[in-house]
This record gives sequence, C-alpha cells and structure tokens, in this order.
Amino acid sequence: MSYECIVLTVDNGLATLTFDRPKAMNALNGALLRELSSALQTIAADEEIRVLVLTGAGDKAFVAGADIKEIQHLTPLAARHFAQFGQAVIDQLQQLPIPVIAAVNGYALGGGCEMALACDFIYASETATFGLPEISLGIIPGFGGTQRLPRLIGANLARELIFTGKFLSAAEAKAIGLVNTCLPADQLMAGVYEVARNIARKGRASLQTAKEAVRQGLNCDLKTGLAIERDGFALCLASSDAQEGTTAFLEKRKAVFNGG
Ligand code: HXC
Repeated sequence: MSYECIVLTVDNGLATLTFDRPKAMNALNGALLRELSSALQTIAADEEIRVLVLTGAGDKAFVAGADIKEIQHLTPLAARHFAQFGQAVIDQLQQLPIPVIAAVNGYALGGGCEMALACDFIYASETATFGLPEISLGIIPGFGGTQRLPRLIGANLARELIFTGKFLSAAEAKAIGLVNTCLPADQLMAGVYEVARNIARKGRASLQTAKEAVRQGLNCDLKTGLAIERDGFALCLASSDAQEGTTAFLEKRKAVFNGG
C-alpha cells in the first residue's frame, strides 16, 4: 500500500515506518494519523514482522508535533475529536504485539515527543531535541504527554518540562531516562537496527508477553501486576519456544525460536 505522509518498508522481519512530511518537520496532521493507523493495522496482522522502528524523514525532525496550521482553528468539539483520534492511534502503536523502537533523528516535540513516549524505548541521535512546547502555544499536550511522561521520568521533572515547554538535548534526555542510548547522527539507524535484530531473534510470544506485562503493570497496582506477570510466565513456559530456549541452554547451543 502506498502512503503520502509516511513510508513503510519491511526488511528481514524489521519494519521501518518513516514520518515523511519534511517541509513541515514531519508534523502530525489528520491525513498522517489516518495513514499511521492503517499502517499499524497492516503491521499487527503481519506475522513476519518482528520489530517496528519509527523514525522521521530528513535530518532535522523526528516529528515537530501536531500540525499547528491544522489545529489552530479547530472548534472545541473538533479539538477534542482530534486529540481523541491521535490518542487512539498512539494507543494502537503502544499496543502493537511486537517491540517498537523510536529512532529519534531530530526534533521530537509536542505530539512527536508523545509518539516517541508510546514506543517501547527510544534511541536518539546526538543532535536530537525533545520537548513538550505546547504551553508556549497556549495549549497543553493532547496525545498522552501529561500521562506518559510522568510515568517515565517522574511527576516533578515532567511538570517542569510541561510548565516551561523547554527543550532538552539528547544528552539531557538520556540523563533523565527518557532516551536509552544516544548515538552520532550517522550511526543512529545502524545502532537501532543492531538492537532490533537482537530482539527479533527472541521468541515472538515471550516478547509480546513481556511487553504486555510491563505496559499493563505501569497502569495497575503491584499485586495485580505480579499476577499478570506470573500468568504470562506460566503461559510462556508451556510454549515450544520455552522448550527450545531451555533445551538450547542445556545443550550449550544458540536457541532458534519458531514462535510457538
Ligand atoms: C506545522 C510546522 C511545525 C508544526 C515546524 N513547522 N513545526 N508546521 N506544525 N508543528 C514548519 C514551519 O512552519 C516551517 O514551515 C517549517 O516547518 C520549518 O520550520 P522552521 O520553524 O522554519 O524551522 P526551524 O527554525 O529550524 O525550527 C524548528 C522547530 C520549530 C524548533 C521545530 O519549527 C518549532 O518550534 N516548531 C513547532 C514545535 C511545536 O510547538 N510543537 C508542538 C505543536 S502542538 P514554512 O512553511 O515556514 O517553511 C502539539 C500538540 C499535540 O504537538 C496534541 C494535539 C492534540
């Protein structure tokens, strides 16, 4: 399927979804969000895809936020619908059954930062910039930033970033745990694909179970989270992947998982 605002490629089980509106710093408009939703459905249905990488076209931006031209004149009702639709698409991203890595190659601002926050983890180029500048536009984050950022970096740091709208360099974002790894810009994608290939060799079901346990656990109390974890553990241990993984260890060879 061909898209106008994104590019989806698949190579050897690794999908790469590139936000592709470089003239507008890859800003998120309605058309892009609709295409993203459709691409995520395609990816979720494709058993061959093991890991998804998100990145931005060009060398300036991952995504510089929601499209300010498009949101400027929305009525309150239309604004609520836009936020609701964007939140739903970003939930769809977060709930994909495979690991998702954000490869942040430039500005990840507003909705772009919120998109990265819904990924399983973030690698960034040393030239990347993060921030939730909505407050400087007289609005607030609307694609999950007020909820996911405090869960990731703690409430007080999140409040400061949201109240000031200040930008963080990639190194600063790494120091507060927003970014896992910073790489020189020309090594970002190689570094991301290296970790993606490593993950892609693990069992599909155990990856999905681990991802779900972490995701659900962040939104419930410890007792409930531990119950989710032990159910997932038991389910995984009964799988053929677990047979293969444990047998391979005992036979001192590398496991080859078939997803069963
Ligand atoms: C629409 C955008 C845009 C955006 C940049 N552009 N960001 N268009 N929406 N979010 C456009 C500019 O208008 C300009 O178009 C072109 O991209 C290049 O941008 P410049 O500003 O000229 O580039 P530069 O000086 O390098 O500055 C880059 C920047 C700056 C720091 C990223 O563009 C910026 O601050 N952008 C806005 C960031 C922001 O406030 N994001 C939050 C949006 S609100 P022309 O046509 O002039 O060349 C949001 C809410 C989410 O995300 C929730 C909604 C419910």
